[in-house]
Amino acid sequence: MALLFPGVALVTGAASGIGQGIAVAFAKDGCSRIALCDINVSGLEETKLLVLQVAPEAQVLVVYVDLSKEQDVKEMVHKTVQKFGRVDYAVNTAGM
Ligand SMILES: *[C@@H]1O[C@H](CO)[C@@H](O)[C@H](O)[C@H]1NC(C)=O
Repeated sequence: MALLFPGVALVTGAASGIGQGIAVAFAKDGCSRIALCDINVSGLEETKLLVLQVAPEAQVLVVYVDLSKEQDVKEMVHKTVQKFGRVDYAVNTAGM
Protein backbone atom coordinates (compact mmCIF):
# COMPACT_ATOMS: atom_id res chain seq x y z
CA MET A 1 0.00 0.00 0.00
CA ALA A 2 1.26 3.47 -0.85
CA LEU A 3 2.12 5.47 2.21
CA LEU A 4 0.72 8.82 1.14
CA PHE A 5 0.33 10.06 4.68
CA PRO A 6 2.98 8.79 7.03
CA GLY A 7 2.56 10.62 10.29
CA VAL A 8 -0.20 11.73 12.59
CA ALA A 9 -3.60 13.08 11.57
CA LEU A 10 -5.98 15.02 13.78
CA VAL A 11 -9.53 15.28 12.44
CA THR A 12 -12.29 17.32 14.05
CA GLY A 13 -15.87 16.67 13.11
CA ALA A 14 -14.80 13.05 12.81
CA ALA A 15 -18.05 11.61 14.16
CA SER A 16 -19.98 11.91 10.92
CA GLY A 17 -20.14 13.16 7.36
CA ILE A 18 -17.11 14.72 5.74
CA GLY A 19 -14.93 14.41 8.82
CA GLN A 20 -15.72 10.72 9.14
CA GLY A 21 -15.01 10.23 5.44
CA ILE A 22 -11.70 12.06 5.68
CA ALA A 23 -10.62 10.02 8.71
CA VAL A 24 -11.34 6.78 6.85
CA ALA A 25 -9.58 8.11 3.75
CA PHE A 26 -6.47 8.91 5.80
CA ALA A 27 -6.49 5.37 7.14
CA LYS A 28 -6.91 3.91 3.65
CA ASP A 29 -3.99 5.97 2.41
CA GLY A 30 -1.68 4.66 5.06
CA CYS A 31 -1.97 7.17 7.88
CA SER A 32 -1.78 4.81 10.83
CA ARG A 33 -2.01 7.27 13.73
CA ILE A 34 -5.24 9.20 13.80
CA ALA A 35 -6.92 11.34 16.46
CA LEU A 36 -10.68 11.36 15.96
CA CYS A 37 -12.15 14.43 17.60
CA ASP A 38 -15.77 15.44 18.04
CA ILE A 39 -18.43 16.28 20.59
CA ASN A 40 -20.37 13.15 19.59
CA VAL A 41 -18.64 10.24 21.30
CA SER A 42 -20.91 7.53 19.91
CA GLY A 43 -20.26 8.86 16.43
CA LEU A 44 -16.53 8.74 17.15
CA GLU A 45 -16.77 5.10 18.16
CA GLU A 46 -18.51 4.41 14.86
CA THR A 47 -15.74 6.20 12.95
CA LYS A 48 -13.14 4.25 14.91
CA LEU A 49 -14.72 0.97 13.79
CA LEU A 50 -14.76 2.15 10.17
CA VAL A 51 -11.10 3.18 10.39
CA LEU A 52 -10.11 -0.17 11.88
CA GLN A 53 -12.00 -1.97 9.12
CA VAL A 54 -9.83 -0.38 6.44
CA ALA A 55 -6.66 -0.27 8.56
CA PRO A 56 -6.68 -2.87 11.34
CA GLU A 57 -3.16 -1.88 12.40
CA ALA A 58 -4.02 1.79 12.84
CA GLN A 59 -3.66 3.46 16.21
CA VAL A 60 -6.77 5.49 16.90
CA LEU A 61 -7.24 8.06 19.64
CA VAL A 62 -10.82 9.12 20.34
CA VAL A 63 -11.06 12.63 21.79
CA TYR A 64 -14.20 14.25 23.08
CA VAL A 65 -13.97 17.95 22.30
CA ASP A 66 -16.30 20.92 22.44
CA LEU A 67 -14.62 23.20 19.90
CA SER A 68 -16.41 26.23 21.28
CA LYS A 69 -14.28 25.82 24.41
CA GLU A 70 -10.71 26.99 24.07
CA GLN A 71 -9.62 24.76 26.94
CA ASP A 72 -11.08 21.69 25.19
CA VAL A 73 -9.21 22.57 22.01
CA LYS A 74 -5.92 22.88 23.88
CA GLU A 75 -6.51 19.56 25.61
CA MET A 76 -7.38 17.91 22.29
CA VAL A 77 -4.02 18.90 20.83
CA HIS A 78 -2.22 18.07 24.06
CA LYS A 79 -3.74 14.57 24.26
CA THR A 80 -2.87 13.90 20.63
CA VAL A 81 0.73 15.02 21.06
CA GLN A 82 0.97 13.06 24.30
CA LYS A 83 -0.11 9.85 22.56
CA PHE A 84 1.50 10.25 19.16
CA GLY A 85 4.29 12.76 19.78
CA ARG A 86 3.24 15.17 17.04
CA VAL A 87 0.54 16.37 14.66
CA ASP A 88 1.33 16.36 10.94
CA TYR A 89 -2.09 16.89 9.41
CA ALA A 90 -4.98 18.78 10.96
CA VAL A 91 -8.39 18.73 9.32
CA ASN A 92 -11.12 20.83 10.82
CA THR A 93 -14.50 19.80 9.51
CA ALA A 94 -16.53 20.43 12.63
CA GLY A 95 -19.30 22.90 12.13
CA MET A 96 -22.97 23.49 12.42
C1 LIG B 1 -23.85 10.98 16.94
O1 LIG B 1 -23.40 10.09 15.96
C2 LIG B 1 -24.28 9.00 15.75
C3 LIG B 1 -23.59 8.06 14.77
O2 LIG B 1 -23.26 8.72 13.57
C4 LIG B 1 -25.60 9.55 15.21
O3 LIG B 1 -26.49 8.49 14.99
C5 LIG B 1 -26.18 10.52 16.21
O4 LIG B 1 -27.32 11.14 15.66
C6 LIG B 1 -25.17 11.60 16.55
N1 LIG B 1 -25.66 12.41 17.65
C7 LIG B 1 -25.71 13.73 17.57
C8 LIG B 1 -26.20 14.44 18.79
O5 LIG B 1 -25.37 14.35 16.58
